[in-house]
Amino acid sequence: MNSPSVNMTAEFSHQLIHWQQQHGRHDLPWQNNRDPYRVWLSEIMLQQTQVSTVIPYYRRFLQRFPDVAHLAIATQDDVLQNWSGLGYYSRARNLHAAAQRILCDFNGRFPEDQTSLMTLPGIGRSTAAAILAFCFAQRAAILDGNVKRVLTRQFGISGYTGERQVETTLWRLAEKLLPEKQVSTYTQALMDLGALVCTRHRPQCNACPVAQSCVAKQTHQVAGLPTPKPKRVVPEQSRYLVSYLCEDKVYLTQRPATGIWAKLWCLPDYAAPLNLELECVKLFGVPPQERRENRPFRHTLTHRHLDITPVWVKLSAHYPSPDGQWVTQEQALTMGIPVPVRKILQMAQN
Ligand code: ADE
Repeated sequence: MNSPSVNMTAEFSHQLIHWQQQHGRHDLPWQNNRDPYRVWLSEIMLQQTQVSTVIPYYRRFLQRFPDVAHLAIATQDDVLQNWSGLGYYSRARNLHAAAQRILCDFNGRFPEDQTSLMTLPGIGRSTAAAILAFCFAQRAAILDGNVKRVLTRQFGISGYTGERQVETTLWRLAEKLLPEKQVSTYTQALMDLGALVCTRHRPQCNACPVAQSCVAKQTHQVAGLPTPKPKRVVPEQSRYLVSYLCEDKVYLTQRPATGIWAKLWCLPDYAAPLNLELECVKLFGVPPQERRENRPFRHTLTHRHLDITPVWVKLSAHYPSPDGQWVTQEQALTMGIPVPVRKILQMAQN
């Protein structure tokens, strides 16, 4: 790709800004304010999750933790509970840790430079730039998945965007395209264009303000760009998640601080079918009364597929349980629990 000329970059940003003002999104709950806490929270929630899913979580989270100090002094359990259902829980753990750093190391004020922002857990280059552009009108380039798609198509850049060389090219381009003024509208324009027009499937090229200069459109490569990630084999694992039930309660244990679902409340899980007689006696001091099992369902994590078999085991009584807690299903659903555990609890309710 030849580097675009100054005229071309000015034209690109001008068209995007104009389009955003006419056709972009202006009423999302995190827009129309410059509070870095709100912008940061929305950017983190939106990292792997769609706008329509994020909105109710965002509102609820803000009600519970209205500012960075409330978030910093909360327990991790409380934060995870308010994240429960959004998935990718490291985002919530990082958010909490970053709030504590902002309180202790930055006197409760968000730093206003990219280097300091990027020292905070969970804030990468693009998220830092979004905060700087939206809250402090600074010229900083974003490059999230949507923007990568817009740029690879507009400039006909092939190669998997996760590769270092392709990514470096895209960052250079993103910086070169930044307008001198109205950076915040331009940043929102890139996000809106990627989400509303230059979509992965069935892009609306007819509605695109920069279709005329789009290399992918001119060379019939829109469907092939961005270049897909090279396929790799994702390992599959079987898991048995066991609901131990006694009267109207179910037994949950808190996961260790590392590994999958760290610190979330979970049904006991096993890698292989187990001797339930022995396990029940070991954990609760009584043998199982009844046992039921459903067919496995698949839950996909970033690096593996889990084929989860739900098992329900009825007990007539139980020992006090120092390692876990007995809660009603309704209580369990309000706790910080992984998505497949929520699914199993709801299966049992229906
Ligand atoms: N995706 C990432 N950031 C966003 C924002 N501020 N508005 C809409 N979608 C987004």
